[in-house]
Amino acid sequence: MTSTAKPRPLSASPAMAPLTGTIAVPGDKSISHRALMFGALAVGTTRISGLLEGEDVLRTAVAMRALGAEVTQLAPGAWEVSGRGVGGLVEPADVLDMGNSGTAARLLCGLLAAHPIFSVMTGDASLRGRPMKRVIDPLSACGARFASRAGGRLPLAIEGAAEPLPLDYRLPVASAQVKSAVLLAGLCARGTTRVVEPEATRDHTENMLRHFGATVRVAIEGHGRVIELDGQPELIAAPVVVPGDPSSAAFPLVAALLVPGSAIRIGGVGLNPLRTGLFATLLEMGADLTFADERLEGGERVGDLLVRAGALRAVDVPAARVPSMVDEFPILAVAAAHAMGISRFRGLGELRVKESDRLAATAALLTANGIRVEIEGDDMLVHGLGGPPPGGGRVVTHMDHRIAMSALVLGLGARAPVVVDDGAFIETSFPGFSDLMNGLVGNGGGSAVAPA
Ligand code: S3P
Repeated sequence: MTSTAKPRPLSASPAMAPLTGTIAVPGDKSISHRALMFGALAVGTTRISGLLEGEDVLRTAVAMRALGAEVTQLAPGAWEVSGRGVGGLVEPADVLDMGNSGTAARLLCGLLAAHPIFSVMTGDASLRGRPMKRVIDPLSACGARFASRAGGRLPLAIEGAAEPLPLDYRLPVASAQVKSAVLLAGLCARGTTRVVEPEATRDHTENMLRHFGATVRVAIEGHGRVIELDGQPELIAAPVVVPGDPSSAAFPLVAALLVPGSAIRIGGVGLNPLRTGLFATLLEMGADLTFADERLEGGERVGDLLVRAGALRAVDVPAARVPSMVDEFPILAVAAAHAMGISRFRGLGELRVKESDRLAATAALLTANGIRVEIEGDDMLVHGLGGPPPGGGRVVTHMDHRIAMSALVLGLGARAPVVVDDGAFIETSFPGFSDLMNGLVGNGGGSAVAPA
């Protein structure tokens, strides 16, 4: 996906039939990026199954190849990475283009800062607008040198440290990306890297480090954690089974809650407790959501979601829950539009620096479709209608996949169709989204989600 690609407008018509059936959603984006990166740093061949083959993750695959790892697709979702060992990445011959992916860019900065190589990184217009200072600042302290555009924006040139120092860093914002960048740099440093996070964020990096043989100690401190990594471990290739992405499951899940009569099952969804804030919130709203067949797969909790449509009530989401559902507010706002009463989501400041300004984009998406929204500081208030919203709006997606999918789900449950200006970015995280939604709706042969 590039910012110069032709926009692909999509529309979602009100579902004429309930959503039914059993589906699986694509692999977890966070775990997929990490599996490719850890595979590239490990000794031996890592086999990955269920890898998300979305644009974002494919960018990471291309970058890992450019850094000297062998990365091969064996079959859909099945990939093999032959790694170079910790500290063994080589200088890329060209600019690394991370497309739309903040996770790929931030995590890669951690790796590049701790190898004695020169690299240049860029991305699409969305990524080039996102803050990188949050990783440049801590990583500079390990000995790397960065040159960037004003405000720490991409493109970025990195001169990695030959002998990176271990960092001791307290995160100023709750960010798994920043935590992971510091830990990845710490792999190449002699000594112990320490990260303090005031709020616990997704711990896929810590889990996967252990899975590949590193020593990681985690202590709980208040709402947050202190993480210590012993540097220069030998990472050994290990198989990775990528669970379904709970952040992607959120879209069919909310669609099934909103379209009357729906009953669906979403199989094999990741249930890492640091990712399940949306599920807790929907249960508080009275959602008919249950979990089945819970199990551990490759160190991550996985289970099936059973969803039935039903009335929802407004909810008040505390700021402390934000890290566990940071990507889910646009789709939660759609659920809140149907709920009875005024919902308040607290502490959403970080949403302003996602693929788009998601606070503004979510508010605009609802407003365009007849739902009243207020932004008070970092809080968002959604005035629920206690039933289907009018719809009929045209939504500007700002190169943001989650705004596009949220708007389309709104359209499935609204009284009039909803159009998005560009559905192309859905490919970054959820290839096959339209077909999957159409398969669930079974609109008497017609498509609910279709090119506009
Ligand atoms: C991610 C962390 C989150 C999330 C992003 C994926 C990760 O970002 O929004 O989609 O894989 O570490 P922050 O950690 O910056 O909040």
